[in-house]
Amino acid sequence: MQINGQTSVVGIIGDPVKHSCSPQMHNAAFNHLNLNMVYIPFHVRPESLGETINGMKALGLVGLNVTVPHKIEVMKYLDEISPAASVIGAVNTIHVKDNRLIGDNTDGFGFVRALIEDEGITIAGKSVVILGSGGSTRAIGYALLKNGVNRLVFCNRTASKAEELAKELLEKMAKTQDVFVAGMGLINSMTEITQADILINTTSVGMKPADPLLIDPSWIRKGQVVCDIIYSPPQTLLLQEAEKRGARVVNGLGMLVHQGALSFEIWTGRSAPVEIMRKAIG
Ligand code: ATR
Repeated sequence: MQINGQTSVVGIIGDPVKHSCSPQMHNAAFNHLNLNMVYIPFHVRPESLGETINGMKALGLVGLNVTVPHKIEVMKYLDEISPAASVIGAVNTIHVKDNRLIGDNTDGFGFVRALIEDEGITIAGKSVVILGSGGSTRAIGYALLKNGVNRLVFCNRTASKAEELAKELLEKMAKTQDVFVAGMGLINSMTEITQADILINTTSVGMKPADPLLIDPSWIRKGQVVCDIIYSPPQTLLLQEAEKRGARVVNGLGMLVHQGALSFEIWTGRSAPVEIMRKAIG
């Protein structure tokens, strides 16, 4: 890549940021399409967030990805929030357009696009159980509802958080849709999980080798799709157990690639070279 006086700059802000693979992924895409753009990691601490965002216009940045711990806090510095980011309550992509800072969220749609495009899995009309009730859960729940799921149940250690999330999503977007949305405790989730078409872990449980299983694996049945948004390790204990029982398993790598691809498309207006981006981090 040859950086020159006309190079456009995008990047990622986070604290920490050094583990991010987004720079490899986006720079590979820019190179492949011969775009004069560069993607840079910026380690931004919480106390510098406001100055950073206010500096985006001054520096002429095209956009930024936003990661932990800034996804919620960043919203107050933006001029406009997309409907998706507004319902999800978090921003992972900022685009500077007509001198306005626009916040969007590509996490949930990235997950859904990975299932549909990479795996050929149908979402519309399906019954889905999501383990967890954090930020990723909200993003994925939103995107699943937008893609026409028939039944969506959040199962969480803290049942009240799952119930609250279900109520909020139903109020904000699913009122007019013919869809069942509910939240419950993990402990009571056996029937829902057994009957679901798709089960998704959105918690961080499974990242560490000593992590337990959140559910009894005997609840998983042959033919189900079992997803984990974790991509390191590539096969969590949940996915190992699911595979043993004849389920189709999907890890979080596709979500990572497609949330990046969607950000790329917001910034450039071009179709992302998804396979190039996947290869860059594979
Ligand atoms: P995110 O990164 O998606 O924003 P988060 O807000 O940190 O995630 O939420 C983490 C989710 O993982 C929560 O649903 C949390 O359950 P609680 O609401 O009960 O805290 C879940 N989680 C984290 N560690 C867990 C564990 N050891 N057992 C069960 N659930 C766990």
